[in-house]
Amino acid sequence: MHSFEELLVLVKEKFNVKHFPVEPSSLYAPNEYFLSLGGKRIRPVMCVMGNELFDTINPNVYHLANAIELFHNFTLIHDDIMDKAPLRRGMQTVHTRYGEPTALLAGDVMLVRAYDYLNMINSPSLHKIIHIFNRTAREVCEGQQLDMDFEKQEKVILEDYIRMIELKTSVLLAACLQLGAVLGGAGQDNQNHLYQFGKNLGIAFQLQDDYLDAFGDPGKFGKQIGGDIMANKKTFLMIKTLEVANDRQTNEIQSLIKDNPANKVDRMLEIFRDCGVDNWAKELKDRYVDTAFSHFEDIAVSGNRKDPLRQLAMFLIEREH
Ligand code: IPE
Ligand code: IPE
Ligand code: MG
Ligand code: MG
Ligand code: MG
Repeated sequence: MHSFEELLVLVKEKFNVKHFPVEPSSLYAPNEYFLSLGGKRIRPVMCVMGNELFDTINPNVYHLANAIELFHNFTLIHDDIMDKAPLRRGMQTVHTRYGEPTALLAGDVMLVRAYDYLNMINSPSLHKIIHIFNRTAREVCEGQQLDMDFEKQEKVILEDYIRMIELKTSVLLAACLQLGAVLGGAGQDNQNHLYQFGKNLGIAFQLQDDYLDAFGDPGKFGKQIGGDIMANKKTFLMIKTLEVANDRQTNEIQSLIKDNPANKVDRMLEIFRDCGVDNWAKELKDRYVDTAFSHFEDIAVSGNRKDPLRQLAMFLIEREH
């Protein structure tokens, strides 16, 4: 069995290979650029962890892990266009550097490459794997559209926000664990608990992302602080602030929302702090972590096999980037 750190080394070794031809370099250089910026690579680690929870590592899991990481990177390239984000992983986003049309196409071809890796998997479970992968990919698209719809919607309730982040972020983390488990021959009950563990952990992960977008350390986060405020995202911070704000604060928030992006971040952050929502973040996150761990307990494998997963969970919810 491998620790989280050991698995990270293994998946990076398999992932850090050339995934694209050289020509046309106007299409593939942007992808090489983006992949060279790194990233935490937690999704491929989750695939392998889900797999090793039930058996020795099945070599096919690395094809799956590469497919998932490419899929994730494709979503980021397109997400940065949608969110008008200038920075990612501490560097220029693909569309800022190469233009939007190229970023769209570079993302598209990355998605296609992900399917090449799926196609390399030699397993009787391949149909099931593709079914879960495709369902998850559809859900991510649904979540991304809801995220943008909410930018224009004045009132968004917490329940709808949670459903949105479940779709755009957490189902992919859940699927990584489940898909690895499928390749490891796990029974359906174990797959379900693992999926629920990943889903609830994924919600906590996106809550942390939204928290860091407002209150993170710019030197560590790697993305533009206040990007969500600029884009009028209805994160839980905004939703909770609107819930507890007094009339004066509410009016100010409504006019800030109409203001142009560059002007509103500092003042909105002050209002967030005045309303105490930065403290509320931890409470909300803990709720999902607790649910995640109740499913974790129900995964029927011997205790120490789950140690790497526990390590990963702590890393995900305490991250600063
Ligand atoms: C970013 O995911 C997108 C979200 C779902 C918040 P990560 O934080 O895993 O991004 P990288 O791959 O490490 O850059
Ligand atoms: C991203 O949510 C989810 C996906 C990329 C599917 P965010 O828009 O919050 O992610 P970051 O903050 O840009 O990484
Ligand atoms: Mg974004
Ligand atoms: Mg987004
Ligand atoms: Mg974010």
